[in-house]
Amino acid sequence: MTTTEDPTTTAAAVDPGPLIKLTIADCAAKVLHSAVTLGVFAALAEGPRDAAHVSRRTGIHSRMAPDFLDALAGLGLLERTDGRYRNSLLAQAYLVPDSTSYLGGFVELTNETLYGTWGRLTEALRTGEPQHLDPDKGGFVGDRHQDPAKMKRFLAGLDAYSDRMGAELARRVDWRRHTSFTDLGGARGNLAAVLAQAHPHLRATCFDLERTRPLFTEHISGLALGDRVAFVGGDFFADELPQSDVFVLGHILHGFDTERRRTLLRRVFDALNPGGTVVVYDRMIDDDRSDPERLLSSLHMRLVSPDGSEYRVADCRDWLREAGFTDGAAEPLLGTHTLVTAHKEAAA
Ligand SMILES: C[S@@+](CC[C@H](N)C(=O)[O-])C[C@H]1O[C@@H](n2cnc3c(N)ncnc32)[C@H](O)[C@@H]1O
Repeated sequence: MTTTEDPTTTAAAVDPGPLIKLTIADCAAKVLHSAVTLGVFAALAEGPRDAAHVSRRTGIHSRMAPDFLDALAGLGLLERTDGRYRNSLLAQAYLVPDSTSYLGGFVELTNETLYGTWGRLTEALRTGEPQHLDPDKGGFVGDRHQDPAKMKRFLAGLDAYSDRMGAELARRVDWRRHTSFTDLGGARGNLAAVLAQAHPHLRATCFDLERTRPLFTEHISGLALGDRVAFVGGDFFADELPQSDVFVLGHILHGFDTERRRTLLRRVFDALNPGGTVVVYDRMIDDDRSDPERLLSSLHMRLVSPDGSEYRVADCRDWLREAGFTDGAAEPLLGTHTLVTAHKEAAA
C-alpha cells in the first residue's frame, strides 16, 4: 500500500488509535499538573488513603475524584489497592513536597508557562510571531519580576531542575583540572552553588543581568558557601566576561539566533583561560532531526522568544570550532538534554 491511495481504502487497514491518543495527549499532562497543584501526592505521602480522604485534604470535588484518581493510577503516578490509593514509586520519589528530590515546582512551572503559550501555536504558525504570555516585557523571567511570590515559585521550579543538572555536571566534567568557573546566564546561582558544594576547591561566578543580583544574594546567602560563589552583573553580549577555567552555558544558546550564538561563543573563548573548558547544554536536536521531543522543545523556543530555537549538535560543534575550540564531544544528559564539551588549548 502507498500513501497516495484513496483515504477510505487506507483507513480500512490502519488503526486510528495512535491518532486519537495524540489528540488527547495534553489531557494527561494536565492531570499531572493539577494533581501537583492540588497536593494529591502530599496527601498520600504517608501511605494509602481512600478517595474521601484525598478529597478532604485537597478539595477535589467528590464528582471528580474517582475518575481523577484512577486516571492518575492509570498514568503510573498512583497505585490503587482495595479502594485505597498510594503514591507510585515515581511520584513518591519526585512529587512529594519538601523532599530534596522534589520536581513538583518544575511541573507547576511547566503548567504555568506552557499551557497558555502552546494554546497559541496555531497563531504562531500563521504569523511566525512568538506568543509569549508577556511579549512586551521580554526576556526569560518577564513580568515575574513584578510579583515576588510568583517569582519565588518560578525560581524554585527552575532550581528543582538545576539541582539535578548540577549533580550530573559535577560528575561528568573533570573539575580537578580547573579552579574557577563561570555559569553564564546562571540565574540566581543555584547550579553554580551545587557545583561549588560538590567540589570545594572551585571558585564560582554566576554571570547574569544586573536585575538578577538581589535574587542571587537572597538565594546564596542561605547556602553557607562563604565567598566561593560570586555574582557579576552584566550583558554577556556587551560587557567583559570574567576570566575563568570553565564556562557553563546551560539553556543559553537556544535563546538567540545563530549569529548571536557565534558571537557569544567567541566572547567565551576570549575570556577562557588557556587549557580551559566550555560546557554547553540544551535540548539539542539530533543531527537527523527526528526526535519529536527535541523538535517540540525547539518549537517551544520559537513560541516564547523572537529568535530562539533548539539547534543541531553538529551546528553547535561547528560554532565551537569557528570560535577556536577543539574537541566538541557530545553526550546525552539526563535523558532530555545534550552536553557538548570543548576545550581551549593550553598556551604553548
Ligand atoms: C533560560 S535561563 C537559563 C538559566 C540557567 N542557566 C539554567 O540553565 O536554568 C537564561 C538566563 O540568561 C540570562 N540572560 C539572558 N540574556 C542575558 C544577557 N544578555 N546577559 C546576561 N544574562 C542574560 C537570563 O536572565 C536568565 O537567567
